[in-house]
Amino acid sequence: MRNKKTVIISNRLPVRVERRDHELHFIPSEGGLATGLGSIYQQEGNIWVGWPGFVPENEQEEAITRAKLAELNLVPVFLTEEELQGYYEGFSNEVLWPIFHYRLSYAVYNSDNWRTYQEVNRKFAAVVNEQNPSDKDEVWIHDYQLMLLPQLVREQHPEIAIGYFQHIPFPPDEVFRSIPWRDELIKGVLGADLVAFHTYNDSQHFLNACTHLLGLPIQNNCLHVDGRSVYAEVYPMGIDFEKFSELAESAPIQHRAQEIRNYYKDRKFILSIDRLDYSKGIIERLQAFESLLQEYPDLREKVVLYMLVVPSRDTVPQYRLLRDEIDRAVGHINSVYGINEWQPIAYYYNSFPVEELSALYVAADVCLVTSIRDGMNLVCKEYVASKEHTNGVLVLSELAGASKELLEAIQVNPNSIDQIREALRAAIAMPEEEQRERMQDSIEIVKKFNIRHWVKIFFNRLHEIKTLQKQEM
Ligand code: UDP
Ligand code: G6P
Repeated sequence: MRNKKTVIISNRLPVRVERRDHELHFIPSEGGLATGLGSIYQQEGNIWVGWPGFVPENEQEEAITRAKLAELNLVPVFLTEEELQGYYEGFSNEVLWPIFHYRLSYAVYNSDNWRTYQEVNRKFAAVVNEQNPSDKDEVWIHDYQLMLLPQLVREQHPEIAIGYFQHIPFPPDEVFRSIPWRDELIKGVLGADLVAFHTYNDSQHFLNACTHLLGLPIQNNCLHVDGRSVYAEVYPMGIDFEKFSELAESAPIQHRAQEIRNYYKDRKFILSIDRLDYSKGIIERLQAFESLLQEYPDLREKVVLYMLVVPSRDTVPQYRLLRDEIDRAVGHINSVYGINEWQPIAYYYNSFPVEELSALYVAADVCLVTSIRDGMNLVCKEYVASKEHTNGVLVLSELAGASKELLEAIQVNPNSIDQIREALRAAIAMPEEEQRERMQDSIEIVKKFNIRHWVKIFFNRLHEIKTLQKQEM
């Protein structure tokens, strides 16, 4: 018998279920979290609990899904349309997401949605309980959709090791204070033993919220919660470096990258990739690109902005509005500056397989990340990992978590259109030798602090904290 099992929990499972032609299809996620945790949850006895991404129409669909996912060590939490509306769209993405990304005016406070958020977190806790965890086991809970879950699991299993990782920023306590249910949210998180963030600022903001709002005693980064020590720490997430580096080197990707380059006729190829989200600074990026064409007319016809925007949360009104705004801005720039032989912006509202993303990274002269707020931003790390053998320049928002690590990128304040424009101009003109030197430094960092390293140091620390807690007793 194994003496310990690991339970990973996140809102979304690493496999998505889709109904097509009355049949269920199981689509694995290529995301970094799925890769990083693959070696953990795929071990016998371990599991990953989460929402499978669809609403079953009947018990048969539920049973098929449950059985198929069980083969992969995955346990589904089924949610109804009403639950998704209140918990996911309403509370997670219309209260927590905007507030945690410093957009106070986008928050919509609705106590019914808060109730549903509580209910769904309890539903997740019930599914975790059904797995019969013991106090020797360890649980790793991911992200803002499940802030109440650490405490709910703790109530059932007082001794169990619980880690919580927040993938998005944590705002200053005066911003966090805006949420009517802020105390309940931090109390929920404090059920964990280790609470982790991508950056030092996020962890400090969380600690401030705990002391200022709950008056909890604190020593350095350790909070005392009902006689238990809870640590708030910083673990910047990495990517699967090897995967992106090997893809970039492979013959089919190099061939595809060359095709892309040929298509754009050796024009400077500026790439941006993000989910459709107001936190990503997509409008600011378009304004800066237009400003580049206006201020430096000699660059017209010599640059292309290739912008891939992945559809996201399109049932939330702010996201729909943003989509329309992007359509208008792209249409405006292409119609005003475009000519027969040249369209300034190639805009795709779609999602691409990782092979195509890799070819785009290899082909791109510049990768442009303009997030107004971003917990980490993995796209820029994927770009770096794809650049071992080709030149390129990263222009990176200083308000994305990754800016704390990728110091050799050209960093910009994304609220300044002028700064983005000038950074683009400098990137386009950067001598090859300087490109190589700066990229090499970034490569070292992304390679060393990769996703496996991240998972390993998180679990090591969680175990260490459990040992420390026992010594304190
Ligand atoms: N991505 C993807 N398909 C696409 C475009 C992007 O799977 O068509 C991936 C991309 O490779 C990256 C992730 O989506 O791993 C985006 O992560 P990031 O941290 O940059 O932003 P988030 O969407 O988590 O806010
Ligand atoms: C960010 C969040 C994740 C979320 C992802 C996609 O990376 O930190 O928790 O899963 O965006 O968003 P979605 O709403 O589609 O799950």
